[in-house]
Amino acid sequence: MEEKTNWWKKATIYQIYPRSFQDSNGDGIGDLPGIIQRLDYLALLGIDAIWLSPVYPSPNEDNGYDISDYEAIGEEYGTMEDMDRLILEAKKRNIKIIMDLVVNHTSSMHPWFQAAKQDVNSKYHDFYVWRKGHAQEPPNALTSNFGGSAWTFVPELNKYYFHLHAKEQPDLNWENPTLRKEIYRMMNYWIQKGIGGFRLDVIDLIGKEPDALITKNGPKLHTFLQEMNQHTFGPYDLVTVGETWGATPEIAQLYSDVQRKELSMVFQFEHINLDKQPGKRKWDLKKLDPQELHQVFAKWQIELANKGWNSLFWNNHDLPRIISRWGNDREYRVVSGKMLAIYLFFLQGTPYVYQGEEIGMINYPIHSIDEVDDIESRRMYAQRLKEGYAKEDIIASINAKGRDNARHPMQWDASKQAGFTTGTPWLAVGDASEINVEAALKDSNSLFYTYQKLIKLRKELPILIEGSFQTFPTSHANVLAYTRSYGNTEILVVVNFSSQEATFALSQTPYTIKEVYIHNYDKEINDTLLPYEAYAVRVK
Ligand code: NOJ
Repeated sequence: MEEKTNWWKKATIYQIYPRSFQDSNGDGIGDLPGIIQRLDYLALLGIDAIWLSPVYPSPNEDNGYDISDYEAIGEEYGTMEDMDRLILEAKKRNIKIIMDLVVNHTSSMHPWFQAAKQDVNSKYHDFYVWRKGHAQEPPNALTSNFGGSAWTFVPELNKYYFHLHAKEQPDLNWENPTLRKEIYRMMNYWIQKGIGGFRLDVIDLIGKEPDALITKNGPKLHTFLQEMNQHTFGPYDLVTVGETWGATPEIAQLYSDVQRKELSMVFQFEHINLDKQPGKRKWDLKKLDPQELHQVFAKWQIELANKGWNSLFWNNHDLPRIISRWGNDREYRVVSGKMLAIYLFFLQGTPYVYQGEEIGMINYPIHSIDEVDDIESRRMYAQRLKEGYAKEDIIASINAKGRDNARHPMQWDASKQAGFTTGTPWLAVGDASEINVEAALKDSNSLFYTYQKLIKLRKELPILIEGSFQTFPTSHANVLAYTRSYGNTEILVVVNFSSQEATFALSQTPYTIKEVYIHNYDKEINDTLLPYEAYAVRVK
């Protein structure tokens, strides 16, 4: 069994943020029938699975990451019939559906929490984390990821409940075995529907021990995951990817070592955190150092080789668009987007593409907080205003790092609402005059076709799945190079991570080029690298 390569090792997974992907009924919110309409496009791109951000009923304090019913579909997204049809239609195109599993917390409107809050004797009370206390004095100093205390007082009960996100997202108490059983039952409900796996939201928080001030990587975390594996997806050929902001390579091995029977892989964020000042919040920027980035990737490649599995990603719905962040969203938009994709796709692991990444969508600059939907940015804005920051500085932080950057609607064509909706979009549509799917498909040189090619190469070249990784030294701070080797085959990947020309003295390496897999300029490969030039070649 273990010998055969799992499907998800060769696969590329595409993330859909349903609210912003395709509206089919003119209400300005993307929906499941809209996704079904676009499946042929995704099949053309060549992806193997869709990670669907939450489509469950939700009061949407945190856009679906506050679920009020795990076994239904939110009205704005459609019906359970639509969901079944999506699974079926995707399957016809060899695409699997990966559900977002948000089980560190529920919405405060979930019937469990409603019952828990109403009656301390209800079996649901202990589904959440409560501590006795007085109104002005939370049990301890733990804070929520969206700012403020992690404890909210319920005067009727004289108790606080715990929430690592908004107060509308009470944390579940994983110590309670009945709760765990309910979660596993619910997961099996989805597995029976024929889904392809789960993405597990902030899963490293479920082992929390608030009294000991432990939130991430709690002592029982891995025991819970092993139990979950055994009671749910274990026997099936599903992919599971945990969101783990607190993972080091050692911890990622615990999750993804096949022998331990936990998850397929985790999202780690060490590369993502490199442009923030150490010890500060993500808003406090530091200039990205490409060498540092390369070292972080190298560390993860080497430490998980044969001992786990990497996920490979630049973007998701919580991160600003990578081209605006570490690429160049003006004159080198396409070429820098290709460079980033080439660098990532030749590494070992499973690549993830976030909607719009494949056409090079960029950040959406705002001028006032009224343009912002995201709860995290709004909370930060209010807090920093109180702390005396200048408005313009806070807006600049939101433009650089705010989560809405990636949440503006998908740009399908150059029409008024970019083909996303016929109504008024829930969040403004960016400038789609040049950046849109229709234009990308017409241009054989577009970023879309680079992604299509990379996705295909991952299926054709076993070396990309199995081969070992080594960094290759360069004499230029912005030039990054690595090799992959497998049997007698060796691949060299070289990228120029800047808008300046640079040199990589290929002629002085032991290598000669045997085959060019991909190159983002239409020119010969020589010792001079143009801005953001990138190539991957088979060498001897
Ligand atoms: C991570 C999700 O990706 C993010 O969007 C959400 O706000 C938090 N988890 C809380 O569920």
